[in-house]
Amino acid sequence: MARMQPGRSCPRHYRYSPAVFARAADLKAQSLYIVGGLYGNPFALDAVLAMARREGATLVFNGDFNWFNVDPAEFESVNETVLRHVALRGNVETEIAGEDSGAGCGCAYPEWVGDAEVERSNEILARLRERASAYPEIRARLAALPMHLIAEIGGLRIGIVHGDAESLAGWQFSQEALRESPGRAQALLAGAGIDVFACTHTCLPVMQEFATPRGTALVVNNGAAGMPNFRDTRFGLATRIAAEPSGEALYGMRLGAVVVEAVPVRYDPGAWLARFDRLWPEGSPASLSYRKRIASGPAYELDQALRLSTPSGALTRAA
Ligand SMILES: [Fe+2]
Repeated sequence: MARMQPGRSCPRHYRYSPAVFARAADLKAQSLYIVGGLYGNPFALDAVLAMARREGATLVFNGDFNWFNVDPAEFESVNETVLRHVALRGNVETEIAGEDSGAGCGCAYPEWVGDAEVERSNEILARLRERASAYPEIRARLAALPMHLIAEIGGLRIGIVHGDAESLAGWQFSQEALRESPGRAQALLAGAGIDVFACTHTCLPVMQEFATPRGTALVVNNGAAGMPNFRDTRFGLATRIAAEPSGEALYGMRLGAVVVEAVPVRYDPGAWLARFDRLWPEGSPASLSYRKRIASGPAYELDQALRLSTPSGALTRAA
């Protein structure tokens, strides 16, 4: 049965109750960048550090900052740098921090992701796990990271997760699930008393609006900070929440006293592709699964990502 295969399952220790969000905020911020799915891209890491520094914004890395960084120096520098900031562990960090539990990459891939791709993800994870084994101190720090955080900004409660409101590797906040069964996400938002869930993990971005008893709520998934997210583009994406809009945002929405936006993470795409090719040459599992996306983006359009029921709340978009 598919759910028992490595890379398909959702380990029990990945799960939490939506009731965990009924607590006081863990941090308060004036402005926030939420960076998920850096995937070991050091150029994207430099870019988000510079973006946050320019605005004096708080950076939160919500998991999967490791993935392609199997080079020892890069494994060390990506982790040392990220761990100076607020961070959550994603399934990748959880798997390389722990012993092999048979969960593979821990992605909990749904049916629409093919077996060959799942198998390649397990192979990438196995290589990264081998690399991580030389760094027990980094592994211990990754293991100690939380799975969820609540940030308060402009009076709004922002639930920051890697997957969804119930699991580190949940797919309820994927663009696919939000399209097919939005009622589930709506119930999770209402039950959790959260205004904005900011997530990543499922690799494609989406910003979707919901009506809850508390008022308008949003799920915002940044896709990947370290890889392109739209067809024929070569930049990553981060979620920005602040009082004033950014001139850089691709799309966004005003919600009470803040704006929630998708902002491009602009790194040198040629340099990143060259680095990726050196670490993961032609024929390697990462090359087969990700090279095309890194070179020219996935088959997904910017227009598919923004799903607002009150378009008047939308901020201007620039491609
Ligand atoms: Fe993930």
